[in-house]
Amino acid sequence: MGAARRVAIVGAGVMGAEIAQAVAAARMNVVLVDANAEALAHGRAHIEAIGARRVKRGRLSETEASAILGRVATGDGAAAFADCDVGIEAVTERLEVKHAVFAQLDAALPPGALLASNTSGLSITALAEGTGRPDRVLGLHFFNPASVMRLVEVIRGAHTSDAAVDEGLAFVEALGKTPVVVRECPVNRVLCRALSAAYREAEANGADRLAADAAVVAAGPAPMGAFALGDLIGLDTLGHIIRDLREAYGDRFDDAGTVDAEVAAGRLGAKSGGGFLPAGAGDAPEPVPDDAARAVAAAYYAGARDEAERCRDEGIAAEDDIATAMVLGCGWEAGPLQANPAA
Ligand code: 3HC
Repeated sequence: MGAARRVAIVGAGVMGAEIAQAVAAARMNVVLVDANAEALAHGRAHIEAIGARRVKRGRLSETEASAILGRVATGDGAAAFADCDVGIEAVTERLEVKHAVFAQLDAALPPGALLASNTSGLSITALAEGTGRPDRVLGLHFFNPASVMRLVEVIRGAHTSDAAVDEGLAFVEALGKTPVVVRECPVNRVLCRALSAAYREAEANGADRLAADAAVVAAGPAPMGAFALGDLIGLDTLGHIIRDLREAYGDRFDDAGTVDAEVAAGRLGAKSGGGFLPAGAGDAPEPVPDDAARAVAAAYYAGARDEAERCRDEGIAAEDDIATAMVLGCGWEAGPLQANPAA
């Protein structure tokens, strides 16, 4: 495969739309597909909003913004996949849903096309085994907001061929992003461990959430606090990821039920107008962190440090690679083992 010319993206939620924007901004054509017409309209509006924001900030001309949008076609079914050379699924983090989408993509994509999942935790090997092209299946794990964050984890399953990994790397580079090849996602382990620790501590000590976020940022090296970040990721998505990590690694990924409580109340984060924090909370003057808020920040960074040590000691990723991944995927100023947070 040369440079991808046309990329199918299934799932027009925030992540799917952000990936579509990144692909179209790299001058490739996209077909964004979702069975839900309303989700598809939201996805397109999201891409339009990114363009409008960049135009307003003088980072993009109106012509470029409309060219990006013009490269994104939308569709609601498999017919749209026929001439795509990469298919990426970005649907909900549940194996049965991803299997169904992969079956649809596998049946409709040309035989040589790459089949990629944006999963952060589900098994690429298991997903590949449901298809007729297991050697062409890999993970391409983007980070929110994918239109901005530079890291993409290229996840190799047991059946992924060297050629497919090389094509995955070339595709990520053509997006202007930095690929790292991994077998598991160390970033989500480190980040979700930090988030779980912070949520658990805040639940126990009653810290004000905005103050806790301010304490995380003040202590550094993370660019935003645990509650704002959960809202950015989307609490339904985060709930699935934390649950999978807890099943795989145990109770250190216990968030004291805080994420599920928000989801049960219909507060899914920024995409639903509010989550841990009410919509617009970031515009209010920042509260001065008190002891409880600082304890949340300390728990956040201690969780990240401990999980990074585990990933390093288990051979999941080298210390430097974890640092690079946290910097490029999560905007940290330094890796969890290099930084010396002031919390
Ligand atoms: N959605 C889309 N784009 C956004 C955004 C959002 N919610 N918030 C900000 N941006 C864009 C801006 O438009 C701007 O784009 P531009 O450079 O093209 O103009 C760019 O981000 C920088 O924005 P700002 O200067 O206004 O803001 P900041 O400097 O405060 O950066 C941030 C915002 C990039 C979100 C930064 O706070 C950050 O890096 N946060 C950490 C994000 C993170 O950790 N992501 C990983 C989550 S884990 C994940 O996604 C894995 C999955 O499996 C769950």
